[in-house]
Amino acid sequence: DVSRTDASKSDVSKCRICAGEVRKFFDFGTQPLSDAFLTEREKDQAFHFRLAVGLCTGCTMVQLLEEVPRERMFHHDYPYHSSGSRHMREHFAQTAHDLLATELTGPDPFCVEIGSNDGVMLGVIKDAGVRHLGVEPSGGVAELARKDGVRVRTDFFEESTARLIAAEDGPADVVYAANTICHIPYLDSILRGVDVLLRPGGVFVFEDPYLGDIAERNTFDQIYDEHFYLFTARSVRGVARRFGFELVDVRRLPVHGGEVRYTLARRGEREVSPAVPALIAEEAGRGLAELETLEKLGNGIDRICADLVALLEDLRRQGRSVAGYGATAKSATVTNYAGIGPELLPCVYDTTPAKIGRLMPGSGIPIRAAGEFSRPYPDYAVLFAWNHTDEILAREAEFAARGGKWIVYVPEVRVL
Ligand code: SAM
Ligand code: TMP
Ligand code: ZN
Repeated sequence: DVSRTDASKSDVSKCRICAGEVRKFFDFGTQPLSDAFLTEREKDQAFHFRLAVGLCTGCTMVQLLEEVPRERMFHHDYPYHSSGSRHMREHFAQTAHDLLATELTGPDPFCVEIGSNDGVMLGVIKDAGVRHLGVEPSGGVAELARKDGVRVRTDFFEESTARLIAAEDGPADVVYAANTICHIPYLDSILRGVDVLLRPGGVFVFEDPYLGDIAERNTFDQIYDEHFYLFTARSVRGVARRFGFELVDVRRLPVHGGEVRYTLARRGEREVSPAVPALIAEEAGRGLAELETLEKLGNGIDRICADLVALLEDLRRQGRSVAGYGATAKSATVTNYAGIGPELLPCVYDTTPAKIGRLMPGSGIPIRAAGEFSRPYPDYAVLFAWNHTDEILAREAEFAARGGKWIVYVPEVRVL
């Protein structure tokens, strides 16, 4: 069925956290789901929604104005595999070792991960012989984790799930999540669930794309259906307090173009690190909770998209061949907002089995196996997976060595 949510043009919505007024600062219009890689036969059934982002004037939480039903995004065939990047595998191995050394040191500790995907982090916890449980609604990736010996519950984490886990497994020392909490509009239920599950003195640790980094480098393609919230230390501290928690630590991470790892503890249980007020003060200095600051990003978005289209049109006129690299969720925002289709970009290369042979959402650009990138190399390649630049430039060193040129588009369009 062709489902199209009501694309109402309202510039305000009700905050999911505080019920205050969310004021729009950018509107990408009607967009497809970013991780829906359909086949030629399925492509007419694409689900669309209105992608617009705003700032809550009450609690400062930046959020989407329209919510996509969770089952449409996170289902058996959810195509994103966390283990697809060597750099991310190393990051999650380090994260697991850090948790093992700091929080999972008591007798028989228990670690719960929300959004454990293919088990990239919990696999390391399992290897250390520590009790763990992943909660992962997407059945395909959950099955991959299970094949590696990771314990997974195929389910959405929310308050009711937390109660079941607490009853079956007992309290958790750590609840951890990466690139998942910002995907979940029902943060109230998540935080009540964490409160049910966490032992006294336990911590909730999560890391997500940071609005400070998005604003600094205008990485506007971080805005898509799954990224319902764009967090700041201030907005996270606010929502934590609402549910009896305190933001006790923040740490900036260099992954996915800039993230922050937030550590929450129940109020009064842990000392607040000076890093928390320091980051909140920095955010205030940059005006990250002011509508005018965020509205200015819009000019940059329009300029980048216009420059990218102009470059691709120019290359087409010159008869140069161009391809995309990395069928990222982010690239759906770029291609669909800029209006880039197969005429300007005939294909995109990617390593993910579940994406190869399918079409980029909305734009319909075909996806080919990364192994075919060299047969023959295009003259230019748009690096959609800019968050994996070092890894991809190293893997595809031969492309540049033979005169191939990479095109990047954040913070501005540039040929490397
Ligand atoms: N943690 C992995 C990482 O950082 O690479 C996976 C991130 S992936 C972008 C987001 C994951 O969250 C998906 O695997 C999705 O199925 C899962 N997810 C979405 N809503 C969830 C929920 N309510 N509870 C648990 N997992 C959820
Ligand atoms: P992400 O930006 O959401 O992590 O997605 C990265 C995409 O890029 C994912 O579809 C896998 C793909 N990819 C490659 O094709 N080659 C690579 O070397 C890496 C690291 C990722
Ligand atoms: Zn609010």
